[in-house]
Amino acid sequence: MKKVTISTLIKMKQEKEKIACLTAYDASFAKLFDTCGIDLLLIGDSLGMVLKGEDSTLGVTVEEVAYHVKSVKNGVERTLIVADMPFMSYATPEQTYLNASKLMSCGANMVKVEGGKWLLESVKGLVERGIPVCGHLGLTPQSVNVFGGFKVQGRTSDKAEEMLSAAIDLQEAGIQLLVLECIPSALAQLISAKLDIPVIGIGAGPETDGQILVMHDMFGISANYMPKFSKNYLAQNKDISSSVHQYIEEVKNGSFPGPEHSFE
Ligand code: KIV
Ligand code: NA
Repeated sequence: MKKVTISTLIKMKQEKEKIACLTAYDASFAKLFDTCGIDLLLIGDSLGMVLKGEDSTLGVTVEEVAYHVKSVKNGVERTLIVADMPFMSYATPEQTYLNASKLMSCGANMVKVEGGKWLLESVKGLVERGIPVCGHLGLTPQSVNVFGGFKVQGRTSDKAEEMLSAAIDLQEAGIQLLVLECIPSALAQLISAKLDIPVIGIGAGPETDGQILVMHDMFGISANYMPKFSKNYLAQNKDISSSVHQYIEEVKNGSFPGPEHSFE
């Protein structure tokens, strides 16, 4: 099977084929997702919540993400592997280069960082040094204490403009992929249309270039919690593999996310 690269994802955007993504943290699930045809796997710092049971992502370390990247890499033949940089592991450009290189040498194909214009120098430096970068705007969970809770972002016209402008500047600085989390569908649609790079949404409506879910949410196993933007695919299927096939199909044909999973 041909390995998915960033060029594959850009071509998919151009040809309007939706990109189906999931998080993964171990080799067994990664292998199953890879075999089902998932395009991209993210080793998310969501692992702090879904694996460790913490109430935020702030306690996750580079070593923990690195451990899970190694496991996921061992399960994957085709899928592109993106690794999250944890809270405060990219506070300065020097720190960013050192920590990103650790994740890349464990097998990541790209690293993801949360934030806007303050990141421009680090993004440019990473790309110049050979490390592809995915941006992440909207409800960036590492800033939950600044937001005062897990709340939809970009709802005022000032905040929406600021996000669009940050997205454009990040693309200019060299990000090759962007995640938008929990923002109004119309804003996500606008940002996706303005950017040349693929935009992956979670709680960002149906008009982004692709979708991502936390795997625990799509199987309904996040303890007592199902976010509005997610869907339990296992509820309608006999096994994990058919759930993943249905998720991929619904992302590709545009039926997921529906209005009930989106914010206006
Ligand atoms: O950590 C994570 O799983 C993420 C996704 C929700 C995009 O950042
Ligand atoms: Na994350």
